[in-house]
Formats: sequence, structure tokens, C-alpha cells
Amino acid sequence: MLKLLTIIGARPQIIKSAAISRAIKNHYAPSIKEVVVHTGQHYDERMSAIFFEELQIPLPDYNLGAGSGKHGEQTARMIAGIETILENEQPDFMIIYGDTNSTLAAAVAASKIHVPVVHIEAGLRSFNKKMPEEINRILSDHVSTYLFPPTQTGLDNLKNEGFRVDNRPPYTIDRPGVFNVGDVMYDNTLFFSKVADKNTDILEKEGLQKKQFLLVTLHRNTNTDDATRLNAIFRALLEIANSGNETLVLPLHPRTAKQMEILLEAELRREISSNPAILLLPPVSYLEMIQLEKYAKLVLTDSGGVQKEAYFLKTPCLILRAETEWVEIVESGAAVLCDADETRILDAYRYFMSNPESSFQTIYGDGSAAEKILNLLLTGAGATT
Ligand code: UD1
Ligand code: UDP
Repeated sequence: MLKLLTIIGARPQIIKSAAISRAIKNHYAPSIKEVVVHTGQHYDERMSAIFFEELQIPLPDYNLGAGSGKHGEQTARMIAGIETILENEQPDFMIIYGDTNSTLAAAVAASKIHVPVVHIEAGLRSFNKKMPEEINRILSDHVSTYLFPPTQTGLDNLKNEGFRVDNRPPYTIDRPGVFNVGDVMYDNTLFFSKVADKNTDILEKEGLQKKQFLLVTLHRNTNTDDATRLNAIFRALLEIANSGNETLVLPLHPRTAKQMEILLEAELRREISSNPAILLLPPVSYLEMIQLEKYAKLVLTDSGGVQKEAYFLKTPCLILRAETEWVEIVESGAAVLCDADETRILDAYRYFMSNPESSFQTIYGDGSAAEKILNLLLTGAGATT
């Protein structure tokens, strides 16, 4: 029996973990046992608890309750908690997702005590080390025993950092296995988009018509904590709301809701909150989000996951960042990098309103990334650090 210890903590990790947990339940229950540890990085009901039942994810066996805080404090609390659990549970592998502080804490804790780390969503780079996530992903990749980049670009980034990709087992922390198996988020979108229509009524509940609204999400610290950038983005959104015929729907990350109160200029804040074409919502469930992404005319976001899901669901996207790790989407023409630049946002919005047809290729695997990962872990199970 192979024992996996999965670390989740932030919203997107809870969602990503559904693909692996589902594959274990459906195909590997006799041979793989999963222990789930929630670091508690996200803790609001709508940032965490809401996903477990909806996505049929096992409830965490442990919750470290790390909560919010400065990078060092938050990460240190998680490292200490994860180390103790690893010592008690003695798993064969520890699974980590993406690039949050929970990811880094787990990578540090496990690699120091020789538990092999499996990094799902490895190899992605923004080439901007001012992002906390860039530091988290580089450090996590370099102490992993299995790296699963979701794209060819991710694999190439790892090659460029000196990783060998010829894959000769047994894999170790010094000679890891590197495999592009596709994206577990694509597995999830394919799986859940089939049931989302039947199981949610968000469009009806919010009075939205298909392809007559725009979806906006915002939470990157570079946008939420910088008054100039936050005001520029909201000025552009207000202009779109006032000039177009679409409703703008904004499920707000708690960080953004808090920072809007502090950093938005008073008049702009008043206009945003009283504008009938701007719908400010609390964070929505995953199935609701899938519906919003699928039926939006356009998505505007600084989220990594949301830009990709928009692509999976064939909705064009404005990326409210200077760069992206998901370069294929921009290269395909289905998304445009707008940074927090009012003019670029408005130009790209107008472009997509008059050119609604984009091309969407299959570049994120075939929807079975989770099964491929588990097969590799089972067949190369002798890996050690
Ligand atoms: C984190 C990740 C980011 C990821 C995002 C997904 C890091 C460094 N960042 O950013 O990569 O894209 O999660 O959503 O790990 N808060 C609440 N309730 C919650 C959670 C957070 O109110 O349940 C508020 C707190 O004020 C907190 C702030 O949001 O200080 C930021 O939370 P934090 O987890 O530090 O970072 P995120 O911005 O969520
Ligand atoms: N998401 C959600 N409800 C929301 C906003 C996002 O379920 O109100 C989902 C979204 O569908 C995607 C994931 O959360 O699967 C993306 O997480 P987030 O934007 O918080 O972080 P990122 O992907 O940028 O790390």
C-alpha cells in the first residue's frame, strides 16, 4: 500500500487536489492511501469549507490552523506543524500543489527529513522574483523527487534550470523524475463542467444572461496592495460598466474586499458600489465559478487558475498582470496581457467585443493527468530522497 500525504491550504490547492483524490477513489483505492493535511492558510467558509462537499474531496485528516500573517511567520507555523505530522505518518510521498506559502512550507519540511516530495504544477515561471509565488515554486521544484509540469513550457523551464528529463529510475532528490502529464485543473474542468449546469443556478440567482456579462477576479498582492494599480484597474472597470451593455460580476477574494475599502479613492469606491452594472459578490463555489467562466463574454483576471479555466471553457481573457506563467494562452491569441494599465485594459476589452471568436487548442493534456501521476508514483515507488 502506497501512502501519500497531501498538503492543501489555499483555495486553488483544495480544488486541484480533487483530481488526485477522485482518481484514488475511482481507480487506486486498493493500492493507495491518502492522508490530507490542510495548513489553514485559507479559512473563511467560502475560501475553504465550501469546496469539500461540492468537489467530493475527503475532509482533511489534520488542520494546522496556520491562518494569515507575514510570509515568514505564516510559513514557519506551517513548517513546524507539517514536520510533526510527517514524523508521525511516515508517508511514502508528500504531494504539493502550485506555488503558495503552504507549498513552500511543505517542501522545506519534507525534504529536510527525507520524505520524497511530489510537486504537481512544477516548472512554471513568471521570471519575476518579486512575486512570492516565484520564490515558492523555484525552491519547491529544487527539493522535489517527482516534478509534474503541466505544459511543455514548464518542462522546458526545468531543463533550462539544469533538471535532467531523461527519467531513469530510481528517482531521488538529486536525480528527480520530470514528467509533463498535463494539468490536473484541466481534469477537473472537464469532469465538473459536465455537472455544473445541473447543480448550480448562479446565473438565475444573480439575474445574469449567458454571454451578456463579464467576469472579473482580482487578488494578487501586486494589484490589491498597490493603490495606483488598484485604482487604475477599477477606473477601467467603471468605464466598461458605463460604456458597455454587459454586467460586470466580481466575486471578491477577502483580501481584495478589504483593500478596496482602504485604497480605492472615495469617489471611485462610491461609484463602483452604487453602479447597477457592477455586481460585487462574496467568493463563489467552484461549480458556480465554472458556470460564470463558461457563460461570461469575457474574463478579466489576475488569477492563474481563472485565466486557464477561461481558456478551457473557450472564453477570452484579459490578464491583469505584466506577465503570465501560462504563456501558451497569450500566444494563442485567446488572452491579452494588460497589466494594471487602464488604456490597455480598455483597448483589449474593445478588441474582444468586436472580435469574439478566438482559437482554443488542447494544450493541457487529455483530462487524465491525475491517473498518469498516480501510475508513475506506483511504478517508481522505490524513489527515495
Ligand atoms: C494566496 C497565495 C497566492 C494564491 C492565492 C489563491 C501565497 C503567498 N499566496 O494568496 O499565490 O494565488 O492564495 O487565492 O501563498 N484572507 C481572509 N480569509 C481567508 C484567507 C485570506 O480574510 O480565508 C485575507 C487575510 O486578510 C489575509 C489575506 O487575505 O491576510 C491574504 O491571504 P494569504 O493566504 O496570505 O494570501 P492570498 O492573497 O490569499
Ligand atoms: N475560484 C472559485 N471561486 C471564486 C474564485 C475562484 O471557486 O470565487 C476557483 C477558480 O475556479 C479556480 C481557483 O479558484 O479553480 C483559482 O484560485 P485563485 O484565483 O484564488 O488562485 P490562483 O489560481 O491565482 O492561485
